[in-house]
Amino acid sequence: MATTLIYNIATLGGIDRKGRLRLQGKEMAQFETLDNAYLLIKDGRIADFGSMESLPQLAADVKRIDAEGGTVMPSFCDSHTHIVNAGSRENEFVDKINGLSYAEIAKRGGGILNSADKLHEMSEDELFEQSMKRVHEVMLKGTGCVEIKSGYGLNTEDELKMLRVIRRIKQTSPLKVVSNFLGAHAVGRAYAGQQSAYVDLVVNEMIPAVAAEGLADFVDVFCDEGFFTPEETGRILQAAARHGMRGKIHGQELAPSGGVEVALKHNALSVDHLESMTDEDIAMMIGTETSPTALPGTSFFLNIPFAPMRKMISAGLGPAIASDYNPGSTPSGDMKFVVSLACIKMRLLPEEAFNAATINGAYAMGLSADYGSIAIGKVANFYITHPIPSIAFIPYAYTTPVIREVYLNGERQN
Ligand code: NIG
Ligand code: FE
Repeated sequence: MATTLIYNIATLGGIDRKGRLRLQGKEMAQFETLDNAYLLIKDGRIADFGSMESLPQLAADVKRIDAEGGTVMPSFCDSHTHIVNAGSRENEFVDKINGLSYAEIAKRGGGILNSADKLHEMSEDELFEQSMKRVHEVMLKGTGCVEIKSGYGLNTEDELKMLRVIRRIKQTSPLKVVSNFLGAHAVGRAYAGQQSAYVDLVVNEMIPAVAAEGLADFVDVFCDEGFFTPEETGRILQAAARHGMRGKIHGQELAPSGGVEVALKHNALSVDHLESMTDEDIAMMIGTETSPTALPGTSFFLNIPFAPMRKMISAGLGPAIASDYNPGSTPSGDMKFVVSLACIKMRLLPEEAFNAATINGAYAMGLSADYGSIAIGKVANFYITHPIPSIAFIPYAYTTPVIREVYLNGERQN
């Protein structure tokens, strides 16, 4: 049995002794820490932790790693990304500076459709190589679990190509990867002006094909003004359920457009974005299994309102935060910066923001029994920082790199 001891940890953060699958309301301000700590890992999982003063006698063959007074934190669980894509769209960045909105760019046939054109031309191998660079990038920034969506194929063949690339990433990368089929991200060019025929294609051809190859853990729909309606979203989520896949949807980004209601009706695991979430939406979500997931990087980059996280927490909800890493609305997968934005722009306490980015993110991917906190039995995914004055320093020093060593499955990655 491979056993590793991490010792001389100034602060061990994100401890959970109660086996909670998510934190809601006031619980979100609880982020248990232990000073002057050790962490013991056996076969890739957390076997024990405690104060250095109570460090047990360990066998001579235990590998010992000196944290040198760094802080140890559970890895980020980034529950919403579009990491598999065929490249950047900085031309639209300039269009936005010149005054066009995200919705206007999409309406002109740009945006997601531009990414689909590029992806169509790219081989599966090239797409894999490009995407793995981004996977590696986020891993070094402290992410340990990530959800990756399709949605730049927009025809059956290219959607399957994307999902096969995601499966290859799952098999190759030490990150825990969850895959999400987002065929209804936009209407593919071949179906321009025939949205309901495109929805038929998603329901009758794409979902069965995806299910036949077991390529997706979840099914997503961009349910928003100018994209898919709640009725179309409902049809797609029903088809997904018939094939044993649960929904996790994009909703209420561009307008209050019924995304929350349809997510709840179909018991989606999460409804993400929520920049246009209303008080009624918040009330509707109380007592449901669905995770509200905010994407502060999108609000920052598109200059649109931030999701009402404080209101959600006051109402007793347990929101997650995720990066939305994608070439159009959020070209960054830096979860440390996402935590900073949640603190600065949404007024979350650092403890609340870390819980939203770890245990609640894991919940929003169905992974929180095994990931998202420092708890005995969970997978040993964590990072060690340089010595820092406190955990609040991490979001406070919003451009300072603090991560020194990254561990996934108990193994050092850098
Ligand atoms: O989550 N909102 C829809 N989809 C992505 C953006 C995709 C793109 O523009 O490439 C998002 O923001
Ligand atoms: Fe997205």
